Amino acid sequence: MRKKMVAGNWKMNLSSTIAEKFTREIKDKIDTDAVDVVMCVPFVHFNMISEILKDTKIKVGAQNMHYADEGAYTGEISGRMLAAMGVKHVIIGHSERREYFRETDTEVNLKALKALQNNLTPIICIGETSKQRKSGRTFNIIRKQLAFAIDEMSAEDITKVVIAYEPIWAIGTGETATSEQAEEVCALIRKQINTRFGNWSSDNVRILYGGSVTEENAKELFTMPNIDGGLVGGASLKPSFENVVHYDR
Ligand code: PGA
Repeated sequence: MRKKMVAGNWKMNLSSTIAEKFTREIKDKIDTDAVDVVMCVPFVHFNMISEILKDTKIKVGAQNMHYADEGAYTGEISGRMLAAMGVKHVIIGHSERREYFRETDTEVNLKALKALQNNLTPIICIGETSKQRKSGRTFNIIRKQLAFAIDEMSAEDITKVVIAYEPIWAIGTGETATSEQAEEVCALIRKQINTRFGNWSSDNVRILYGGSVTEENAKELFTMPNIDGGLVGGASLKPSFENVVHYDR
């Protein structure tokens, strides 16, 4: 059985004062063994948030990393550096990074491979635009993005990866994919992994849905057969994040 995961993505939000206050507020409210909970926070807050969450079940993750171990890459942070800080999860290839920072499929793959090398769990994001969906290209886009992202991975690697299906038109828009739409694509992702790696890998890989997940729709989405939880942006900045994590109560 795959364990559910709910990963919060703070993006570039919350001053350290507010981040500290908010983390203290939610830390005792989130207590579950049924769901892996990860908060992906801005780099600068790692130490503080990790300290606050050290005796809780919430893990602290990152939102990006570079694929080189070190070097002349001004402003970047490597997977090796994250691992050394005790980080265990990192979001890779979020659509905002693909769009605003021109991240390519090849870079997404290099980052994911490097994350695995550093024993980090890459949460790899893929998803179609509204235009691509409307023109009936969703499946092709997803197949292509997935194939690129997991290139060079082994059957074992893939069980350590988390795939997040995030339709771009649903991110931050309040327009959530229906549970049927989300399930359809998550099932396609699992099938593609099955075709390439076999049952063991496809049974174990976790596939999340992301895009306007809220406390209202979490249960319906997360209980679909091929959806193993969510990647949550806006709702991870609110006290109601507790209810997204405890969607089953
Ligand atoms: P959202 O963001 O929940 O605010 O739509 C999701 C994401 O960008 O990962």
